[in-house]
Order: sequence, then C-alpha cells, then structure tokens
Amino acid sequence: SDNNNSTNQKFPTLKNDRLLRALRFEPVDTTPVWMMRQAGRYLPEYKATRAEAGDFMSLCKDTARATEVTLQPLRRFDLDASILFSDILTIPDAMGLGLYFEAGEGPKFKYPIRQQSDLERLPTLDVNDSLDYVMRAVTSIRHALNGQVPLFGFSGSPWTLATYMIEGGSSKDYRYTKGMLYSKPEFLHQLLDKLVIAVIDYLDAQVIAGAQALQIFDSWGGALGHRQFVEFSHAYNKRIVAELKMRHPNIPVILFTKGGGLWLDIQADSEADALGLDWTMPLDRARQVLTESQRQFTKQHKTLQRSKAIQGNLDPATLYGSPETIRSEVKFMLDSAYACGEKTGYVANLGHGITQWVDPERAKVFIDAVHEYQI
Ligand code: CP3
Repeated sequence: SDNNNSTNQKFPTLKNDRLLRALRFEPVDTTPVWMMRQAGRYLPEYKATRAEAGDFMSLCKDTARATEVTLQPLRRFDLDASILFSDILTIPDAMGLGLYFEAGEGPKFKYPIRQQSDLERLPTLDVNDSLDYVMRAVTSIRHALNGQVPLFGFSGSPWTLATYMIEGGSSKDYRYTKGMLYSKPEFLHQLLDKLVIAVIDYLDAQVIAGAQALQIFDSWGGALGHRQFVEFSHAYNKRIVAELKMRHPNIPVILFTKGGGLWLDIQADSEADALGLDWTMPLDRARQVLTESQRQFTKQHKTLQRSKAIQGNLDPATLYGSPETIRSEVKFMLDSAYACGEKTGYVANLGHGITQWVDPERAKVFIDAVHEYQI
C-alpha cells in the first residue's frame, strides 16, 4: 500500500524509500541522489521521443510519451527519485499567455503581463480542467514506476513564474519585472497573489494524482536584493509550503532557490522539509546556518522546529570534467555534507539542471560515485 494517505488512488508499494528517509532524518544505507532536469536533451532517447511528439508542449500533453521520457533516465542510471516530466511554464500557459518555443531561444509568451488590464484578464485556474494533462501524466508515471522510486511533482515559485510572465520569456536583467518591483510594487504583489493560489492548487492536485514529494523551483530568486527576496519571493513560498503541509503533512516539500545560499536563515522560517542549494554554498556551512536558525526559532517561538534537510549542490559543469574529476568533486561534496557528524538529512543532486551538452556516461559517473561513498 501507500506510505501517505494524500492520494485517492491505489498505487504499487514503494521499494526504494532512501530519499524519503533522508528527508525525515532517518538512517540511510547510502546517499539518495537524483538530478534536476534528469529527463532532457542530453539523452538521445529523449530527443527521439521529443521528435515523435513534435514540439515540447505536445510532449508534455502526451501522457504516454511524458511517462516514457520520465522513465528514460531511470533505465540508464541508479537514481533514487523520478520527477514528473512537464515544465514550470504550464501555469502561465493555462492562464492564456500564449506560450511558444522559438528554436534556440527558449520559452516565449505572446501576451506578457505589463499593465493592469493584462492582470485583470488573468483567469482563476481550475487546475483539474486546464492542467488536467499534468495530473494524468502524474498518475500514469506513478503506475509505470511500479514503486521503483518516489515521484516528485513540482512548480515554479510565484516570483520565478512572474519573471517569465512579465518579461515575456527568459531574461538576464529582469528589466520589466524589476522595473515594476521598484515603480509599481502593488501591481507585482497582485500578480504574485494570483500565482500563489494557482501554485497551491496545482501542487495539491499533483499530490492527489500521485506525487510523493514536491519541489518548488525558485530559479530566479537569487536575482533579487536581500529585502526584496523576503518580500517578493520568500513570503509567497512560505504561504505555499504552509498550505500544502496543512493539506498533506506527510508529503515532503523541497524549496530550491537558485542563488539563495545567503538566505538559508530566511528560508528556514518556513515549513519546508529541505532546502535546495546551488554550488556557491558549501554544504558544511549550510548545515551550520540551519542548525543555528533552528536554535533561534526554538528560542523565539518556544516550540521545537524540525531539522531541515539540504539538497544539492554539484556545479552541473563538473560533468564536463573527467570521471576522476567528477569522483573527486563528489567526494568533497559528500565530506562537506556529512562534516557535522549527521549521516542523514542530505540528498545529493546538481546545483541546477543538467545541461544538454553533458555526456550521459558522465552523469552515470556522478550517480555511481554518490552511491559508492561510504557514509
Ligand atoms: O527535471 C526534469 O527532468 C523534469 C522536467 C522539467 C523541465 N523543465 C523540462 C524541460 C523541469 C522540472 C523543468 C523546470 C523548469 N522549466 C524550470 C525550473 C528549473 C530550472 O532549470 O531552474 C525553468 C526555469 C523552466 C523554463 C524553461 N523550460 C526553459 C528556460 C526552457 C528552455 C530550456 C532550454 O534549455 O532551452 C524550457 C523547456 C524545457 N523544459 C526543456 C525540457 C526538457 C527543453 C525543451 C526541449 O525539449 O527542447
């Protein structure tokens, strides 16, 4: 049977619970590992399935093929988790912004959000209607996994989604989003308020459809200033996690802010089970900051806060290096993760998504090196 009662369906028994155990600070035989963007263009079999489907969004909406590409990395590598094949931009797409992909240029929106009338046009999403293809994929993947490893659902953070919706695509300088933040902050807050509701409903529906863990991708949180991060990113992430934990107390939530290493103490003020880190933050220091934050929280609120696990944080570019380099970088990373003497509460991962230029054999070296390390 199931190890949570958050879903309305019956799924195969989970065989590998290493990831869930590490997130709960229970003993593990070896370190659980997965890779952000583990299904993707670095795999020739992904490119083949993607070509059959046509464009990227058609692949996301094709239940059988979305299931197939989710499983592809698990056939090659000894991974301890799977992640729903989809995208963070499904929410703005469902809101009618007209998502499309320009060859070599990444995602674009036909109708970006720039003024009050754009905002008023945004519908309140019924996620089981306009995003039902995502829920169908979750349920299909969960069955196809046959209990091999747990399945992550995910969403972009409201701030990260807002940057795409306002810029109309990817951005280096966030000109329009930050312009709005400093000239019409109330406007930005109105957009974030709409997104926070959509993200909560979206993740809730993924859990009901079969997701066993959740990750929030705050991919561009690190672009903000310190106080702006608290007000425009973390405040909303905190609301999302609190609401999900109320609805699904046994479903772990990982909060990943790219460039957020300096703000672990701020992110610790949330009900997230784990914080994801990029490669700029040493893991031993991350553990120290989190232990100190937990002590402060307990003192201030006079209630014990659970320890927060960490996830990460190998620079994805390490996988351009030789097998020897990858193995020695993995050893440094795990020595650092376990330096505090706590031999759990850690999930190995890259510090951001694997890139399309990585040789799959090097990804295998990374994953095997994590498992071969004696805790
Ligand atoms: O991790 C997985 O294997 C699950 C699938 C997944 C994708 N996107 C597939 C994808 C996940 C978790 C995402 C999240 C996502 N999407 C994020 C957050 C993660 C991060 O990297 O910070 C962001 C910012 C996006 C937005 C997005 N989607 C961009 C910028 C692009 C273009 C990327 C590129 O490299 O060109 C996409 C498209 C996309 N999403 C691809 C994949 C495999 C490539 C599309 C293709 O097949 O051509």
